[in-house]
Amino acid sequence: MLPTSIIARKRDGYELTADEIRFIVQGIVDDSIPDYQLSAWAMAVLCRGMSVAEIATLTDCMLSSGRRLRRSTERLRVDKHSTGGLGDKVSLILAPLLACVGLDVPMLSGRGLGITGGTLDKLEAYPGFRCNLDETEIERQLQNIGCVITGTTEHIAPADRKLYLLRDVTATVPSIGLITGSIMSKKLAANLDALVLDVKFGSGAFMQEFEDAQRLMKSLVETGQRMGLTTRAVLSDMNQPLGRMVGNACEANEAVIVLQGGGPSDVRTLTLRLGAELCLAVGLHDSLEESQAALARHLDSGEAFERFQQMIACQGGLFQAQLPLAPGAEVAAPTSGWISSVDGQLLGHAVIEMGGGRQRKDSAIDHSVGLEMLVRIGDSVEAGQPLCRIFAHNETDRGLASAMISQALQISSQPVEPLSLLPAAEFNKFP
Ligand code: URA
Repeated sequence: MLPTSIIARKRDGYELTADEIRFIVQGIVDDSIPDYQLSAWAMAVLCRGMSVAEIATLTDCMLSSGRRLRRSTERLRVDKHSTGGLGDKVSLILAPLLACVGLDVPMLSGRGLGITGGTLDKLEAYPGFRCNLDETEIERQLQNIGCVITGTTEHIAPADRKLYLLRDVTATVPSIGLITGSIMSKKLAANLDALVLDVKFGSGAFMQEFEDAQRLMKSLVETGQRMGLTTRAVLSDMNQPLGRMVGNACEANEAVIVLQGGGPSDVRTLTLRLGAELCLAVGLHDSLEESQAALARHLDSGEAFERFQQMIACQGGLFQAQLPLAPGAEVAAPTSGWISSVDGQLLGHAVIEMGGGRQRKDSAIDHSVGLEMLVRIGDSVEAGQPLCRIFAHNETDRGLASAMISQALQISSQPVEPLSLLPAAEFNKFP
């Protein structure tokens, strides 16, 4: 049992001591604290927040609740974490790309969360792909090809797995302190030399408000640095999907095009920027420009594409240059004007409704359904022009998705400025 006084002190806004936080995490691991007490504590944390010291202790205790990956190569080890956004397929491109410049990338990823698709779900669009490698298999794959994308193992931050399930059903996920502990304990367990965080804001992101994203970025970076991990962060705009494709096979296909040197410029730009931050962080190059140019060469030469195919094969997947998609149908513009806003939540739900995401934790996913955005904010459109292509299997899903997409895309009678993916440097910093 958790002494009620600890929950009450958090409820009243006091900072918990390191011993109290240690006691809570120990109680999560050994099941000695009942869920109803943990839920009350998590709600108190959500409402009252956590200090920097509390977050660092929580992260440290969650990290220590499990094991760290071993290191069996001489190479520097890096990773990227995104807070999740619609159409975000950067991990699929970045892991093999960084391996091409001689870095090891043990990417421990997750499944879809809310409207944002999960990297593991996207990779499982390749028949046979395994996302449940154990620590020995992770290490072997790093030795062989320098990159791996798999789920966290049962030994990595086990306290997080239990706490996260509880947070999910008690509406306590959006606590900056709990998110920080959850993400950073898993990243620290990967035994990295540097981490870059892609913190997203906007209608298609987990943090919809820019200021909340800035606060989350600050908490993640400060906690990483405090725990001795070189941590950098980039804020990126998610007021419209990243790239054109949304959905599992759709996004894998688009990632493959970027890996071959093509694809939408926003996906390429963000991938190169995040990769360059890591190259700089570990001292591989002297400037962002130099790093970006070096990484771009590996995309354009097809080397990163080859490494991606090796990764799919190593993990048991059957690579196909373009995975099959459900039949396509277009949604047309009801009026002429300029695309003024895109409701990412609605678009994400449209994909979930078609079976491309999970309605329940144990739902199966249909990898072949999704969307292709044919316009971006600021584009001028004529009435009747196709705005979006839906990949769906039946008329009911197509009708439902079409109605949601029509509602999600607003058209203004006045010209609208396009959005910039990366906010100006002065905003890309702590509040
Ligand atoms: N992703 C995580 O791993 N944990 C959170 O708490 C939120 C997003």
